[in-house]
Amino acid sequence: MENQEISDSAEPATVQAEASTENGSENGSVEKASRLVLGIETSCDETGAAVVSTDGRVLGEALASSAAIHAQWGGVVPALAKGEHEKAIDGVVDLALSNAGVSASDLSAIAVTIGPGLSLCLRLGAMKARELARQHRTPLISVHHMEAHALVARLTNDGVNFPFLTLLVSGGHNLLLLAHSVGHYTQLGTTLDDALGEAYDKTARLLGLDLSKGGGPALEALAREGDPQRFKFSVPMRASKTGSKTCDFSYAGLKTNVRLAIESEIPGAEQRPLADVDATERQLRADIAASFQRVAVAHLEERTRRAIGWALEQEPNIKCLVMAGGVAANKYVRESLTRAVQEGPLELTRREVKLGMKRKEYTPIRLVCPPPRLCTDNGVMVAWAGVERLRLGLEEPPPPLEETDHSNVQLRPRWPMGEIHSKSTTGVGSIRATRAFPSLTAFTKSMSTSAQPAASVL
Ligand code: KG4
Ligand code: ZN
Repeated sequence: MENQEISDSAEPATVQAEASTENGSENGSVEKASRLVLGIETSCDETGAAVVSTDGRVLGEALASSAAIHAQWGGVVPALAKGEHEKAIDGVVDLALSNAGVSASDLSAIAVTIGPGLSLCLRLGAMKARELARQHRTPLISVHHMEAHALVARLTNDGVNFPFLTLLVSGGHNLLLLAHSVGHYTQLGTTLDDALGEAYDKTARLLGLDLSKGGGPALEALAREGDPQRFKFSVPMRASKTGSKTCDFSYAGLKTNVRLAIESEIPGAEQRPLADVDATERQLRADIAASFQRVAVAHLEERTRRAIGWALEQEPNIKCLVMAGGVAANKYVRESLTRAVQEGPLELTRREVKLGMKRKEYTPIRLVCPPPRLCTDNGVMVAWAGVERLRLGLEEPPPPLEETDHSNVQLRPRWPMGEIHSKSTTGVGSIRATRAFPSLTAFTKSMSTSAQPAASVL
């Protein structure tokens, strides 16, 4: 484990969430009755583990990241990431348990991310979870990585009740979803090409930034020094005939325009680290960073405002927009989305048009973001997603004692969250074509209705 540092929790999230209703107690017996869930996350380049109680206390966590190793290669290299998970997994799980002051036999369930993500990496976490569950006869819980990003807001913030709207922005996904209940989602929008985190990472690399702590944070920091108006990149999909009225995203065109600007203004920037350049060039790079960020986030804001309209039409009781995933750690993004929820829907609803209204009817919904360290990948979100599912009886039995080889565990590297909204038309064909597994919503329904839960999945 010489390349990775395992860190434990500096400041455990303290939470409330439904403690007394969970155990039906008002006088302290909650403590006794609450159950413990271990969460394991290995879908990409972070090995995370945490123990969270069903009354919402984060008892212990640990995290190891191999981001600094991948930085040299310009992106996550699956085989390298797998090797780093292999080295880190036992230590990370042991540290989370010891920080929590519990042993594996005290757990009521073990939750693990089984998708979406890199198969090689997911497998390591799933095998570890399965082996612990087999040894200690502990139920298993299959977790969807993106659902875990969204649900952790219910651990860290008060009043995030279903239904809510959620915007998930990470390295691999850009999703706008209507969250109806645990495991039940409608997809309002997705990316047609790249995710925003990926665009941040790529731009940071072309600008010669230090990627060891991630491209996004490095670009955010440099953009603070820049003039966001200097480069007039166009906001994606505004001119598109079909795309301009959807909640889908596209970042490939912006990425190309930024690359062309860098190639013409500062050729070879990628090969010259930012620390080695003079003040004029630093300013130029900062201006490109700030201009990229302004336009990329304007697109995010626009699509989210449209999604607020769609969501409220379907579920007028929505009170929150939950924004999570790595990019949600970004301060500029948070400020922009705060504005988006204040301003509300982009267009009038059909009903408003019929009534001849000129202005939209809108009471601002609240923007809720988990603290930045719980926006990026971590074990707490997986443990909490496990708690949410355990409360609903969505656990699976432990593997048979005689199962000693877990390498055939079924994973879901591509795993849609729910059905596509009826108004969403752009790219539906291509999205459907790439669907390798039934959605999380279908999976959850099958578990809730079957007497014999889908034990074979994990
Ligand atoms: O959710 P996450 O940790 O992993 C995935 O599920 O992909 O998200 C990682 C992504 C990376 O692309 C990273 O550069 C981006 O989130 N990210 C940021 C920031 N922190 C992380 N992007 C912009 N600004 C940030 N502060
Ligand atoms: Zn993630």
